[in-house]
Amino acid sequence: MSDFSKHILVTGGAGFIGSHVIRLLVHKYHDYHVINLDKLTYAGNLENLKDLEDAPNYTFVKGDITDAEFILELFRDHDITDVIHLAAESHVDRSILNPMEFIMTNVVGTVVLMNAAKAYWSGNWNGHRFYHVSTDEVYGSLGETGFFTEETSYDPHSPYSASKASSDHFVRAYHDTYGLPVVISNCSNNYGSHQFPEKLIPLFIHNITNNKPLPVYGDGKYTRDWLWVNDHARAIDVIFHAGKNGSTYNIGGFNEWQNIDLIKVLCKVMDTKLNREPGSSEKLITYVKDRPGHDLRYAIDSTKLKEELGWEPSLQFEEGLEKTVDWYLANETWLNNVTSGNYKAYYETQYAQR
Ligand code: NAD
Ligand code: TYD
Repeated sequence: MSDFSKHILVTGGAGFIGSHVIRLLVHKYHDYHVINLDKLTYAGNLENLKDLEDAPNYTFVKGDITDAEFILELFRDHDITDVIHLAAESHVDRSILNPMEFIMTNVVGTVVLMNAAKAYWSGNWNGHRFYHVSTDEVYGSLGETGFFTEETSYDPHSPYSASKASSDHFVRAYHDTYGLPVVISNCSNNYGSHQFPEKLIPLFIHNITNNKPLPVYGDGKYTRDWLWVNDHARAIDVIFHAGKNGSTYNIGGFNEWQNIDLIKVLCKVMDTKLNREPGSSEKLITYVKDRPGHDLRYAIDSTKLKEELGWEPSLQFEEGLEKTVDWYLANETWLNNVTSGNYKAYYETQYAQR
């Protein structure tokens, strides 16, 4: 008999959000065994979890969620009781260059995991949960007003958001058809430590540090709703434990920024932190060709999560941004390691035509 009360399979734990979720679970719940399954793609970095290597309630397994036989074996080997599914191809620009990988991992991979859960738990759903982590991008784009609620119709525009929307539909279908005990959350843009520097905030911190141009897509007037990654991890913890079976929860901090305004605040913080002349980082701003199918505005209404489960963000954006900048500046080796190799080749393809 195992000493653990749960064996939770967390997929994509070596990535940005997954590493924060794993750290929270491993520290907070000593009676849970947390199994991190990750393929270690360009975005997966075990350095993100170095501090947990010796934790007795943590195990890392390298593997691919699309490999059905291997996944079923893993359920058996570790007697998996619950899944928190984060593994995904997650970058919109990459999805435009190569949609197939997104369909394989985000859609097929999700179905493979649910098939294994369904087979291994074999209809005895008591004490089990399949938690699917999704994005607000499935709802498409808002005009200048309004918010996404859990009732907003899906209307994805990028291959990334279409693949996430598709996986959400499959998760609901497995609940409605087979009774799989699922819960889904759709979160806004995250920022914080350990994010791969292809996404806006870490990319621009890296470029400012190295005096490289800041490629602003289109007119820079696109709006995103930003949430500190640790607050997302806290929300996942709450929803995993208390969310209603078959339910969806939107996660967001009511924190909208037009890209260009956010970039200007970031530039100011960077000038101060790097002891540079005020205004010097802003000079790096370079307007480039727009992203095709670029969604104008995302804004999440997370009232349901607050009212039902009592979750609220813990941090103001300015404070979170400063903490984030401090982390990247203090972890230059991390940044240099991930910006070498594979990532560089991608960067050149992505920005060559702009
Ligand atoms: P990420 O790209 O940083 O990490 C993804 C992880 O998944 C990596 O460690 C990668 O190695 C792993 N992975 C990829 N393909 C795999 C496969 N076939 N098998 C096993 N592992 C595989 O992504 P992230 O930003 O941490 O996002 C995590 C989840 O949260 C995703 O499902 C994403 O859609 C969702 N999400 C992200 C954001 C955001 O702002 N980043 C917002 C809302 C929701
Ligand atoms: P990103 O971090 O890629 O997240 P998402 O596309 O999932 O929202 O981009 C955030 C916003 O920043 C989005 O409107 C696109 C824009 N952007 C740029 O202007 N330049 C860049 O180099 C990147 C990566 C993003």
